[in-house]
Amino acid sequence: MDFVIPVEPTAASSATAAPSSDDVFSLLRAVIDPELGADIVTLGMVPDVQISPFGAVVVTVKLTIGGCPLRAQIKKDVESRVALHPGVTDVRIEWGEMNSEERSEVMLKARWNAREHAPDTEIPQSCRVLAIASGKGGVGKSSVTVNLAAAVAAQGFTVGVLDADIWGFSVPRLLGIDEPLEALPVEGSEKPKIIPNELTVGRGLTQGTLKVVSTGFLVGEDTALMWRGLMLTKAVEQFLRDVHWGELDYLFIDMPPGTGDVQMGLARMLPRTDMLVVTTPALAAQKVAARAADMARRSFLRVSGVIENMSSFTCDHGQAYALFGEGGGQALADQIGVPLLGQVPLEPSVAAGGDAGTPVSLDGTGAAADVFRSIARRIIDDIAPPTNMAGCSARMLGMVDAALAAKDAERAAQSSES
Ligand SMILES: Nc1ncnc2c1ncn2[C@@H]1O[C@H](COP(=O)(O)OP(=O)(O)O)[C@@H](O)[C@H]1O
Ligand SMILES: [Mg+2]
Repeated sequence: MDFVIPVEPTAASSATAAPSSDDVFSLLRAVIDPELGADIVTLGMVPDVQISPFGAVVVTVKLTIGGCPLRAQIKKDVESRVALHPGVTDVRIEWGEMNSEERSEVMLKARWNAREHAPDTEIPQSCRVLAIASGKGGVGKSSVTVNLAAAVAAQGFTVGVLDADIWGFSVPRLLGIDEPLEALPVEGSEKPKIIPNELTVGRGLTQGTLKVVSTGFLVGEDTALMWRGLMLTKAVEQFLRDVHWGELDYLFIDMPPGTGDVQMGLARMLPRTDMLVVTTPALAAQKVAARAADMARRSFLRVSGVIENMSSFTCDHGQAYALFGEGGGQALADQIGVPLLGQVPLEPSVAAGGDAGTPVSLDGTGAAADVFRSIARRIIDDIAPPTNMAGCSARMLGMVDAALAAKDAERAAQSSES
């Protein structure tokens, strides 16, 4: 006869338990109201969170103005952030609108936050951050990064490219830049700041700018070894803090392969980062890439999509050859529950563009160039739309200033009385 031994819940079963409200609030701290420049919890926009024993979460979000143009973005961010917890089965938002008293309270907080907590990084709050990751090297992560960054910039955006592959950098070569970076005095900072290398891309109305930073600009390809002693996370921190990025609509980060250090650092410094995972079509490669996605999840970074690179090569006669296998991208996307954003074919033009320092996504023809451009469009339209600052921000910030001026006057009056 078999005995059934009662067991204590294991770590595995407790991992899928419903989240606590602390868990939910800490996930919500990654949702930034880009207009007010702080997270929605700090701003007091989340008065209540309800969690059922089965993991259905209802988040109450109070908007400053009911018709706020950022509503859709906040909705998407709240849903996807809360869903990162493995015990969450459903996320719903109850919308509310602040009364004028609550509104001025929030705006005071926003300004106070901006004043007292100078942001840890030089990346503007309104900038969308996309980290391109893979489980291992050689899958085309750097090629994907520069091609997408260039294609997005060529739609009229200012796009930062941060080469976080400190020892294996290849961004300088892929973009044909070799000027060393300079640190110059900048207004509002005691220390001189590193000025990124700039590149103009696209033309006419949609001309944009790439701002590029890489250790390759600091050390030259030959002396990269000297950086071996440097902690990876420290280097990335420096790039986020000591570079004068200025205006940015997007920041693309070429992540080092494998390691979790940089992901953890990013999660701490830029918790709003969206991760795109690159994999080859081989079903075996997909396992390695899944590990990278898993690491992202554990550091609470959101994985927003999968890109398959080196998909089937089509010869001049129209015959397709799946040199590196088939199906890996879709399988990985299904496994982690995110969309497959595109399949970039294996094409000599990609490598040639890299060698020439001109990403094929700019003016190139052919399938690979088209796929890069279509993924860029999808990023702009759907995955990480640019933050629309044209909405209520000007009016709101005007109100904040008025409220603060009133407070300052009050305080001045009080201190002159005493
Ligand atoms: N779709 C592609 N078609 C042809 N060659 C490619 C493609 N993607 C990448 N490559 C080439 O493969 C090599 C590795 O790409 P790279 O972007 O440096 O990978 P990673 O950054 O993942 O190490 C480079 O020589 C690059 O030119
Ligand atoms: Mg690389």
